[in-house]
Amino acid sequence: MALVTSDKMFKMAYKNGYAIGAFNVNNMEIVQGITEACKEEKAPVILQVSKGARAYANHTYLVKLVEAAVIECPEIPIVLHLDHGPDFETCKSCIDGGFTSVMIDGSAHSFKENIELTKKVVEYAHDHGVVVEGELGTLAGIEDEVSHAVGSYTRPEEVEEFVQKTGVDSLAIAIGTSHGAYKFKPEQCTRNEKGILVPPALRFDILKEVSNRLPGFPIVLHGSSSVPQEYVQMVNEFGGKMPNAIGVPEEQLREAAKLSVCKINIDSDLRLAMTGTIRKFFAEHPDKFDPREYLKPARANIKELVRHKLKDVLGCAGKADECKD
Ligand code: G3H
Ligand code: 13P
Ligand code: ZN
Repeated sequence: MALVTSDKMFKMAYKNGYAIGAFNVNNMEIVQGITEACKEEKAPVILQVSKGARAYANHTYLVKLVEAAVIECPEIPIVLHLDHGPDFETCKSCIDGGFTSVMIDGSAHSFKENIELTKKVVEYAHDHGVVVEGELGTLAGIEDEVSHAVGSYTRPEEVEEFVQKTGVDSLAIAIGTSHGAYKFKPEQCTRNEKGILVPPALRFDILKEVSNRLPGFPIVLHGSSSVPQEYVQMVNEFGGKMPNAIGVPEEQLREAAKLSVCKINIDSDLRLAMTGTIRKFFAEHPDKFDPREYLKPARANIKELVRHKLKDVLGCAGKADECKD
């Protein structure tokens, strides 16, 4: 099947208590690792491309890689989404260039300016059959090239006006997740009985209030990597230095997916799996220099990590058929 929008996926995810995985793609191995797992697990998927990814790999290469995945995986619905679109021009370029979904991230602007910008993108996108994600509230960490030292939670009292005035199809909210591999400082965490650092809980009260105000409306969570400690340890064991890398506990994401959260963004976890695997490979095979030899296990580990997310975190394994238009 051709690329689709996220319309049907979000309807089914909302109704049946799961979320669609939105994974960032930057090269062929990442596209393959993600989509091979989705194909085998019969899961719908959103492949997303950031401004940084377009600068790195080039728009055309990324679109063609995703189109190749569509040909290789005809049995699953695939969305091609712009992640953190910074302005109207970038969104327009992606809408004109084959994307089926865009995010306009106006969260750094005032509420009024965010509405104006988002509305402009929605009008253009909807005229071209493309859906739009907006954002209210800011996440701590790095949003593409915009770095926020501290985030601010979404204000539930703003969401109805924002959705009504902009016409967005989904809304990213800030409830305590953040981008990157260092989401929480150790001093923000408590230790459990095994001595493992447990981060503060996500603000489910805000999520529930947003959902009460927007019944049936799909909510998006960014910054939702869980920073698997097995890969942090692998990085650190084989020459890396990532002290105190802490992510969002997977059980909390599973809970969010059962509520109104229909899209969960995961990027850093895949980066960690890839980097840890490559570091290990080089440490164990210092004589090797063929990129295929170290990218192959990296791709395989991305695939297994995505499989785990689909089955155990997002709950969207086996849902491909019901998400087809
Ligand atoms: O939220 C940002 C995504 O993880 C993309 O990151 O800007 O480094 O491509 P990037
Ligand atoms: P992570 O850094 O937690 O993977 O978040 C990715 C993201 O939100 C992409 O938009
Ligand atoms: Zn994000």
